[in-house]
Amino acid sequence: MKLCVIGTGYVGLVAGTCFAESGNDVICVDIEEAKIALLQKGGVPIYEPGLEELIRRNLTERRLWFTDDLVAAVRASEICFIAVGTPEAADGSADLNGVLKVAEEIGAAMNGYRVIVCKSTVPVGTADRVREAVRAKTDHEFDVISNPEFLKEGAAVEDFMKPDRVVIGGSSPRAIELMLTLYKPFVRTENPILVMDNRSAEMTKYAANAFLATRISFINEVANLCERVGADVADVRRGMGFDRRIGHHFLFPGVGYGGSCFPKDVQAIIRTAHENGLGFPLLSAVEEVNERQKHLLVEKVVRRFGEDLRPFRFAVWGLAFKPRTDDMREAPSIVVVEELLRRGGRIEAHDPESLNEARKVFADRINYHRLNYDALEGADALLIVTDWNEFRRPDFARMRQLMKTPVIFDGRNLYELDVMREQGFAYYPIGRRLVEGR
Ligand SMILES: NC(=O)c1ccc[n+]([C@@H]2O[C@H](COP(=O)([O-])OP(=O)(O)OC[C@H]3O[C@@H](n4cnc5c(N)ncnc54)[C@H](O)[C@@H]3O)[C@@H](O)[C@H]2O)c1
Repeated sequence: MKLCVIGTGYVGLVAGTCFAESGNDVICVDIEEAKIALLQKGGVPIYEPGLEELIRRNLTERRLWFTDDLVAAVRASEICFIAVGTPEAADGSADLNGVLKVAEEIGAAMNGYRVIVCKSTVPVGTADRVREAVRAKTDHEFDVISNPEFLKEGAAVEDFMKPDRVVIGGSSPRAIELMLTLYKPFVRTENPILVMDNRSAEMTKYAANAFLATRISFINEVANLCERVGADVADVRRGMGFDRRIGHHFLFPGVGYGGSCFPKDVQAIIRTAHENGLGFPLLSAVEEVNERQKHLLVEKVVRRFGEDLRPFRFAVWGLAFKPRTDDMREAPSIVVVEELLRRGGRIEAHDPESLNEARKVFADRINYHRLNYDALEGADALLIVTDWNEFRRPDFARMRQLMKTPVIFDGRNLYELDVMREQGFAYYPIGRRLVEGR
């Protein structure tokens, strides 16, 4: 099949590459010329495991192209995906300017029947608006399909190649048939392709993200209560998770959720509820809990070191909003680092992949280290903010030697309490008993 994907970010680039990998001809379009130039040379603008290799292979085998020429891309394609960003507008709603602009451009460019697929996360009713925007620019026939994306950054290729389910929203049998043919190779393990109307598909994406965010805020509340009552959330979480009705996913307490999706999608669904005469008090609470949670680690720091952090040097491990990505959008680390800086603390930061992105956020206000141990030298404490795998089994003796005082504030509960005790660290986890240190 011949496709174009407009918007070559985390979603568009992964989707386009994976469609090419299953044998389709795919043109990825973006307005950022530098990004296109880099991709044409086989470079990859984001870090995502496995992606670079797939891009290179499909470029070489001439199934994947990158361009800023939307008109040519639309003319060469039967199916046009819209995968541009839908950032949070000032009022909390999803900003649809990009999506609707691309819809108009597709309408103006098309020279025959097209299936136009909205892959961006968009509020209920957007497919109708896309239809109107396209119709205003063309007399050709077309159908609009809503096909939300559920991939997670850090495992995007894997998720896309083997989705738990594919959601296709639309009413035209012709367009749905094309979509089923396109997605068949991705569901060979019999995971379902769910066909529904556009509005239900649009709602499904927000409901799924809002539910996952709710689980995170729920366990964070439980963790905070555990601290007060002397229970251990690590045990409570396991005790809950083995119940098959509950499961283990998204029940890890921490420094709050971040990223380019949960915060804006929770906002957007609350906004949709308000616009339709309903509130969504449950999700308003989810957000409130999450905001508070981002401050928790620094509150623990202040309880130990006092409000004035000027005399102290803090190592921070992990800046990306989650492991295996370089994405810093809405990362909880931003709140943690800013709060430390505001009180005068000095920051020595390490992240395996996001240092370039982090520089755009913190500039020269903090120091950056490519190696995790380098950040520890002379540190009064270490704060762990992202749960990268490589932080799970560090050399504690080496850490103790490097640090001025062996103190860890662990926003991801990576270490066992008895190990911390044996190793002589003062250890401040989330929702567990603290280890006093020697
Ligand atoms: N990132 C995720 O994990 C994820 C997961 C599922 C769904 N989504 C949704 O997918 C959508 C895209 O997210 P993303 O993270 O890939 O965004 P992104 O910001 O990484 O990428 C968007 C891309 O679109 C390009 N673009 C903007 N306007 C354009 C235009 N007029 N023509 C061509 N290109 C244009 C930008 O230059 C950018 O490269 C959003 O709606 C998001 O909510 C994201």
